[in-house]
Amino acid sequence: MPLFPAVDPIPLPAPIWLLKLLHIVTLALHFVAVEMLLGGLLLAVLLSLFRSSPASMVTARALARRLTMVMTFVINLAVPPLLFAQVLYGRALYTSSVLIGLYWISIICLLMLAYWLLYRFTARLEAGRSAWWVGLSAWVLAGCIARLLSTNMTLMLRPEVWRDMYSASAAGAYLPTGDPTLTPRWLLMMAGGLFIGGLWLVYLAGRSTFTADEKRFVAGLGGKVAAGFGIVYLAAGLWAASVQPAVVKVGLATHPLYKFAGFAGYGWMALVLVAVLVGAIAGFGKVSSAWLAWSAVLLAVLTEIAFTVYRDGVRDLTLLSKGYDVWDRAVETNWWVVGLFLVLFVAGLGVIGWLVSVVARARKVMEAA
Ligand code: HEM
Repeated sequence: MPLFPAVDPIPLPAPIWLLKLLHIVTLALHFVAVEMLLGGLLLAVLLSLFRSSPASMVTARALARRLTMVMTFVINLAVPPLLFAQVLYGRALYTSSVLIGLYWISIICLLMLAYWLLYRFTARLEAGRSAWWVGLSAWVLAGCIARLLSTNMTLMLRPEVWRDMYSASAAGAYLPTGDPTLTPRWLLMMAGGLFIGGLWLVYLAGRSTFTADEKRFVAGLGGKVAAGFGIVYLAAGLWAASVQPAVVKVGLATHPLYKFAGFAGYGWMALVLVAVLVGAIAGFGKVSSAWLAWSAVLLAVLTEIAFTVYRDGVRDLTLLSKGYDVWDRAVETNWWVVGLFLVLFVAGLGVIGWLVSVVARARKVMEAA
């Protein structure tokens, strides 16, 4: 009996390479926003808990004010990769989603609660009230959402356990066990939060809304966090790569197409090392400058793109070893629809660029105000 449900007879409406390209680009942007949320929130919580100096409270508030906006990007940049993933991997992803259905659907409630707590955290900080426990609750919920996403994205790669899981519970109330890749993969995303959160502070230190003293504090803290957690992120990445099945490791080194995903893995390591260096310069020198700020942004985006390409290779090679070839689908391209989509996509990016430029030109309000 085949491991995967039968393929949908309706052909794909666009070339597979285009769907994969859009999937990787939008997912990498989702990951940048997710890591900013996970890392920025934890840093704001710790700063507001220890209140070591006036600058630490200014930094906590500066992060918190931006986090509710970051959450909108987490969600809006999650929908496109979800749709592309369903088109490309539906037979695997729908099955695993149904198997953990109760948990999967609970993400909506967890997300709404985390979002509400995020607003409460910001409001309490602005009012000078104790807020760390509210922020910490939001962070724990976000970590649970991340764990459930890692659970589903790894369960979709294990058709061999689906039947037993369904026999154990058809209510979707049963979480999978025995996957050595799940915890390293989740911890990799959690460690990436503090790494990207540190780079975010290095960027913020370059903003003119901080005083000179505050800039030194923000650059010093952000740089040290980025450098320190860059090393942890690297270690977690090596751990997550080492627990992949042998067939995936061989494929990443030798497969004519997926060896590019293997290169992306090395690219990811090199980018994290450069970011550690940038973090160390900003952190130990307490330097804030435009070039450091924009290097931090560039490195954060490139790191997540390289990571997403590598992760895509791991998924495709794992599925391929079990008989699921993502490239083996009937395609009937509707170029009018593809063209319209691309025009709207580019126009959407243009609107976002314009909105960012409006924010950049707006009258500056000092962070401590
Ligand atoms: C606080 C909110 C969220 C957090 C912390 C979060 C975190 C994550 C993490 C950690 C992963 C990677 C899992 C792995 O591969 O190990 C992930 C992937 C993903 N997330 Fe999110 N996420 C959030 C919100 C959402 C929402 C609201 C959606 C859907 C609308 C979503 C859709 C996805 C999809 C589709 C993937 C995987 C795509 C793929 O592998 O092709 N996420 N997210």
